[in-house]
Amino acid sequence: MNLQPSDLQSLEALVSQKTGLKVDKNRHSEILKTLGNMLEAAKLPNFQELLRTLADCATDDPLWRQLIDRVTIGETYFFRDAAQCNVLQISVLPDLIAKRRATGFKHLSLWSAGCATGEEPYTLAIMLREMIPDIADWTFSLLATDINITSLETARRGIYRPHSFRQETRPDVQGRWFAKCDNNTFELDAAVRKMVEFAPLNLLSEDYPSFESRTMNLDLIICRNVTIYFEQATTRRIIEHFHGCLNSEGWLVVGHAEPLVSAYEGFVPRNFPNAVLYQKEADQPQLMPIQHAAPAHRDRVMPMPVVELQSVPEIAPTRVVKARAVDAVEAARMAAGREDWETVRRSLMMAERHNPMNPQVHYLRGLMLMQQNELDDAFSALRRAIYCDSSFVLAHYALGELYEKRGNTAEAMRCWLRSQRSIAERQPEDQVAPNEELTVEMFRDLLSYRLGSLPAGD
Ligand SMILES: C[S@@+](CC[C@H](N)C(=O)[O-])C[C@H]1O[C@@H](n2cnc3c(N)ncnc32)[C@H](O)[C@@H]1O
Repeated sequence: MNLQPSDLQSLEALVSQKTGLKVDKNRHSEILKTLGNMLEAAKLPNFQELLRTLADCATDDPLWRQLIDRVTIGETYFFRDAAQCNVLQISVLPDLIAKRRATGFKHLSLWSAGCATGEEPYTLAIMLREMIPDIADWTFSLLATDINITSLETARRGIYRPHSFRQETRPDVQGRWFAKCDNNTFELDAAVRKMVEFAPLNLLSEDYPSFESRTMNLDLIICRNVTIYFEQATTRRIIEHFHGCLNSEGWLVVGHAEPLVSAYEGFVPRNFPNAVLYQKEADQPQLMPIQHAAPAHRDRVMPMPVVELQSVPEIAPTRVVKARAVDAVEAARMAAGREDWETVRRSLMMAERHNPMNPQVHYLRGLMLMQQNELDDAFSALRRAIYCDSSFVLAHYALGELYEKRGNTAEAMRCWLRSQRSIAERQPEDQVAPNEELTVEMFRDLLSYRLGSLPAGD
């Protein structure tokens, strides 16, 4: 393909604007070849048209894929940077684990941003497996993202060449966590693989922090050797976004080559042997209006109506925390409407972290598990909702549904009769729960119908 120097400059400017990356001059001839392939594949008439099309689409569009493969550098390996790994293993992760264990909510949320072929997030997963003896009782959100979709595909496979294990890699890691395959490759233990979830994310986008990208309420972000070539202003913006993603006193781990100290506003630099990590300052309690969940968009598929958080007792200490919990519960509700169960699950975990005694969280989880036919877990979740609020009439009703599904009609009847009794004194036009369309009269009809449909004699 014949291009003018000014064409290459336009391409470089576009790549930098969209990805933050600089095009390596030594790769020009490969890039020209790639552009030729792209023109052919996209059936575009000329380079100018290709440039326009690239400018108009997001970097996760298939058109960008080949070009991103060419301009990114995915150099990485297991247990990279021994000093940082020591700090994580000896200090930061044990501290996070102990704090969370003390709350009884055994969950951690970590994010490897710019994970390349996965060695970095899998390193974190291995560390966690090695340091948590009761790992079966824990849940993790270990998100790993990259702009390079080809790298993410490699990461998901979990099969590595010797190059992914270097001198710095702890010598026991390969034997302990990998099975050697015939062609001199090493397959990562399935339990470790399952802990990490890979997803495309361009750090120059506005997709984070957000519930959708699962980048909220994180305990730790590791983003190393990614922003080294970015403009300072871009790096600053990314760090600001990371700040918004982290929990109070959450950790940010960056590479040694990314000091830009002035960019870490809102973080406290913490000095460890041969490593500096950044810890988000503790939240200052401040007043924030509690957002009211909007009932307008409730085209959900839940089998039952849902009560608002404000209607049930909470033990969250500040209004800020309450507001976040409402956001997360509402996010769960909306995601349920889309049948996006993964987001429901994560949003509920976040809400639960703010208030493990929030009956609404357990109730929503119970409904989700019922939909997924995980009846034992649904049963525990609904029991928990009732434990948190014994007068939670909709949870009693849902528990009745569950008993009926399991064929225990006597217990189903008991739950529904209890629901009937608890609304007996209420006015027919009252809402069963605040901001719910379901009135007491409608609920009474529903209960009569369900009780009437139970086989006689039970
Ligand atoms: C050198 S690797 C670092 C891998 C790993 N973090 C480590 O330190 O071992 C840099 C990674 O950043 C990714 N990257 C570059 N620009 C990005 C962007 N704008 N958004 C997300 N990832 C990006 C590249 O695709 C590449 O996989």
